[in-house]
Amino acid sequence: MKKIAIYPGSFDPITNGHLSIIQRASGIFDEIIIAVARNSQKKGALFTLDERLEQLDMLSEKIKTNTALRAMSFDGLLIDFAKTQNACAIVRGVRNAHDAAYEQQMIHMNRHLSGIETVLLFTTPELSFVSSSLVKEVAKYGGDVSAFIPEEILPVFLDRIAEAS
Ligand code: PNS
Repeated sequence: MKKIAIYPGSFDPITNGHLSIIQRASGIFDEIIIAVARNSQKKGALFTLDERLEQLDMLSEKIKTNTALRAMSFDGLLIDFAKTQNACAIVRGVRNAHDAAYEQQMIHMNRHLSGIETVLLFTTPELSFVSSSLVKEVAKYGGDVSAFIPEEILPVFLDRIAEAS
């Protein structure tokens, strides 16, 4: 049976940390659904849901893998979406023990509700301090974030930061 995993998140913006996790998880699963949470389209979001889905589709094509990658959005509980997609696992990237502790709560809840396991991947050390929110803050004050945002979306990312400031 095909091993399908869900990689959920806000992806506002997509960072090289996210792409690295997708690349590494693709060695484990036959298919990965990159799932953008609709509720992450809150006020203050840099990109709309459709923009994030388009960006993820475009960037997925650059990932060298035989694993099928596709971007979808979901509403409501993650495990309900995972069930509709026949997923056997959720993938999450963690940078440190603090992230892992936060994920632990969700992992237990999701498994309690559905039996679906979560695979936690620690980000590579060089990306272990990167988060979408930190990158947004640094960019807002003119810091160089080009090492952390995919080059394809860097110009539009910087435009949006300037518009929002
Ligand atoms: O990139 P983020 O913001 O850390 O992603 C968080 C996300 C979207 C994975 C999480 O908020 C989520 O799963 N939301 C869907 C609602 C849900 O299932 N909540 C219960 C989790 S136990």
